[in-house]
Amino acid sequence: MSHARPTRFSDRAALRAAVEAWRRQGESVVLVPTMGALHAGHLALVAHAKAIGRRAVVSIFVNPTQFGPSEDFARYPRDVAADLDRLAETGADAAWTPEIDTMYPPDFSTRIEVAGLTEGLCGAVRPGHFAGVATVVTKLLNQVRPDIALFGEKDFQQLQVIRRAVRDLDLGVEIRGVPTIREADGLALSSRNRYLDAAERAVAPRLHAVLARIAAALRAGAAAGPLLAEGVAELTAAGFGPVQYLEVRDAETLAPLERVEGPARVLAAAYLGRTRLIDNVAV
Ligand code: PAJ
Repeated sequence: MSHARPTRFSDRAALRAAVEAWRRQGESVVLVPTMGALHAGHLALVAHAKAIGRRAVVSIFVNPTQFGPSEDFARYPRDVAADLDRLAETGADAAWTPEIDTMYPPDFSTRIEVAGLTEGLCGAVRPGHFAGVATVVTKLLNQVRPDIALFGEKDFQQLQVIRRAVRDLDLGVEIRGVPTIREADGLALSSRNRYLDAAERAVAPRLHAVLARIAAALRAGAAAGPLLAEGVAELTAAGFGPVQYLEVRDAETLAPLERVEGPARVLAAAYLGRTRLIDNVAV
């Protein structure tokens, strides 16, 4: 099915007016926050938004405050025109593309820190990252005021951090997670996959394969420790390195687990050449 391109807003008052007009008509509004470079994973979130709500708003903003000084902010892919074309296929109603000064005026002074949940995993190796995410997502939620906001399970710790911030601060929006979209060989879709050269791309699906095998062994009652050590060795032998973490965590509290009883997740982050890949699977 083909649709019109979404209406693009870069002015906050105009966006607000459009969303408020929908709400006055009783139309539900679902927000999908993104940093652009849209791929089928993002588009699945937008399709889900249109399936559960009447109006879908997609924000596109490469948020500088969630990138570390040695990370890829400068070379992160940006192509809003291509993103808007891709969104036309999904039936998204609006694209919110704020300028940097709208998000962060020169005297911007506030930061949302979510303690505990952000201490391990990506939080341990990307200091300040989740404060940047929580702050920008809080702003996006307040700018758009959706009924529901969708986030991918691909970034599982991010999803839990946002759930917690929204609950703790009474932001009054429902947060829902959407399962990870993968290539046929298991590689999770990511805007960063385009950094991989052909040899790295051939190795990349091993990350998901290792996670899936560990999850199956945990389900069968195995202890985490030896499985994780083997997993790191296998990834390293395949050409990943450094493996920043490979861990088993409670799916809600993200507390480390040695044996799995309730809902759990196996999560990993590893470099493949210059590219940092993350992935996780349910146990
Ligand atoms: P970005 O990496 O662009 O991802 C936007 C949303 O798409 C996130 O909720 C992410 O989890 C989801 N996503 C990415 N790859 C996916 C896949 N393969 N399957 C399903 N969902 C996927 O995450 C961010 O942007 C930013 O941190 C943001 C939340 C926008 C704040 O700046």
